[in-house]
Amino acid sequence: MTALQVSKVSKSFPGVKALNNVSMTIAAGSVHALLGENGAGKSTLIKIITGIYPPDSGSVMMNGKPVRFANLRQAAAGGLGVVHQERNLVTRFSVGENIMLDRLGASALSRVDYAAIHREAETWLKLLDLEVDPRTIVSRLSVAQMQLVEIGKALSLHSRVLLLDEPTASLTPNESTVLFRILRRLRNDGVAIGFVSHKLEEVFDICDRVTVLRDGVNACDSADLTTLSRADVVQMMIGRAERITKRAPRAQPDVPPYLQLTGYASGAGHRDISLSVRPGEIVGLYGLVGAGRSELARAILGLSRQLGGEVKVAGKPVHITSVAQALHQHGIGYVSEDRKQEGLILLHSVLANSGITLWSKLANRMGFLRDSTVNAKVAPVLQRLELKTPSVYQTIGNLSGGNQQKVSVAKWIAAGVKLLIIDEPSVGIDIKTKAYLHDLIHELAEQGTAVLLITSDMPEMVDVADRILVMDGYRIKGEVENDRNYDAVSKAIMGFIHNHAAA
Ligand SMILES: Nc1ncnc2c1ncn2[C@@H]1O[C@H](COP(=O)(O)OP(=O)(O)OP(=O)(O)O)[C@@H](O)[C@H]1O
Ligand SMILES: [Mg+2]
Repeated sequence: MTALQVSKVSKSFPGVKALNNVSMTIAAGSVHALLGENGAGKSTLIKIITGIYPPDSGSVMMNGKPVRFANLRQAAAGGLGVVHQERNLVTRFSVGENIMLDRLGASALSRVDYAAIHREAETWLKLLDLEVDPRTIVSRLSVAQMQLVEIGKALSLHSRVLLLDEPTASLTPNESTVLFRILRRLRNDGVAIGFVSHKLEEVFDICDRVTVLRDGVNACDSADLTTLSRADVVQMMIGRAERITKRAPRAQPDVPPYLQLTGYASGAGHRDISLSVRPGEIVGLYGLVGAGRSELARAILGLSRQLGGEVKVAGKPVHITSVAQALHQHGIGYVSEDRKQEGLILLHSVLANSGITLWSKLANRMGFLRDSTVNAKVAPVLQRLELKTPSVYQTIGNLSGGNQQKVSVAKWIAAGVKLLIIDEPSVGIDIKTKAYLHDLIHELAEQGTAVLLITSDMPEMVDVADRILVMDGYRIKGEVENDRNYDAVSKAIMGFIHNHAAA
C-alpha cells in the first residue's frame, strides 16, 4: 500500500532549479532510501513534503489524499514525523522538553507536568541507548547526542510516515545499529520510512527501495533496492563509476612531534592522555559517541582547564587558553564538529565564511583585505571539493548541508596552519567529494602539516590515518598501526573499546 506519493514536484530557488518533475512513492512497511549527491535536492524534497516550502508545481499525497501542511505541528498531527538535516532543537530547553515540544508548543510548556514529560522522554532515550538525563539542557550535549534526541522526538510522535534526513550523519556504527533495530520494528508495524544517507553500506543494510536524484531530477523513481548493486546506485548518483582508492601506508616522518601531550588531564574529565602528532603525520582518534574525542580537541584548544600533565608545541611547554591563541601563536587550526554552533556564520556569504580563518593573517600583511585575496586562496580548494553554489556571494544557509560542510572544511585546509585538528570532516559529504577531501588531507600532510583526525567513519579512518589511537571513557585505550587492511584494523580498534558488544 502506498503511504506517501510525490508526483512531478518542481521547485526553484533564485539561480537554482532544485527539483524538476520529481516523483517518489513510499510504501507502508518499507524503508525507502532517498539518495543523491550534495545539492541533488533530497532535503528540498523532504521540506516540500513536510510543508516548509510550497512546491512550484506537482503534488504530495498521503494515504491517497492530497496534503499540504502549513507547519511541522500540522504535519505531526497528520501522521508525518520528520528529522530534518539541520538540527531544530531549542538548545536552552531540556532534552525532555525538546522531545515533547512539537506536541505541546512552547507556550504550553509552562503549564505542563514536567515529571510526566521527563518520564515519557526517558522511554525514548532508553530505546535509543542514549544515557542522558531528560532534564539535561540540550546545549550541553554533543552533536551526536543531539542527533539522537531529534530522532527520539520524531519517534515519539508515533507517525505512520517517518522521514529521516541524514539521521546517522554524526552517529558511529554502534548508535546507528541501535537506530536500525528500531526502524526495522517500525517497518514491520507498517510504518513508511524515508531515509537519506551518504553511507551506502547502511543504505543497503536497512533499505528495501530507493529513489535517486541527480541535479534535481529522478535518476530512478522508486526501485527495488535488492535488485541493485552498489555500483548501480553510484552510477545513478554520480553518472559514472566510483573511484576506489586504496592508499599505501605512508612512511612515518622521522621528525620530533609538533604536538605532544604527556599524562594530560583536563577539567572535562580526561585522564592520563599521552599522544603525539608529528609534522606530516595523520593521527586518527577513534571512539564511540561520548568517548571524549571532541572534548579532548576542545581541551587542547583551551576550552576546558588543564588539570595535570604537560602539553608541548614544537618541543616547548605551552599553556593554551583560547582558540585564537592556538591559531595565532601556535598555528593550530580546528575544524569543529559543530558547524552550526561554531563553524559557519550561516547568514554570511560563502566568500565571507571561507575567509574567516585567513582574515587576520592576510590583513596583517596587507593592512586590508580584499575579497579577491580570500577567493584566490580558498577558491581552488572549493573547486576541488566541487562546491555547488550559484555564486560565492550566496548566503551559506541557502546551500545544501553537504555544501555548507565543504566550505567549513575548505577554509581550514586553505588556512595553512601547522597542526590541523579535524573533527568529523566528511559528515554529510557525498561519496564522490569524500574521496577528494581525503586527497586534500593527504596533500596537507605531504606538505608537512601535522593532522589530528577525529572521525566516527571507520572506512574514512582506515583510508586517511597513518596510525589510530582508540579512546574510551576519556582515556586512550590503545594504538593501532594502520596497514590499510580494513577488516584487521577495524577489528583491532573495536577490541580496545570496552562495551563494543552493543554492536
Ligand atoms: N532556501 C534556499 N535558497 C536557495 N537555494 C536553496 C535553498 N535550499 C536549497 N537550495 C539549493 O537547492 C539545491 C538542492 O539543495 P538540497 O539541500 O535539497 O540538497 P541535498 O540533496 O539535500 O544535498 P546534501 O546532500 O548536501 O544535503 C542546492 O543547489 C541548494 O543550494
Ligand atoms: Mg540535504
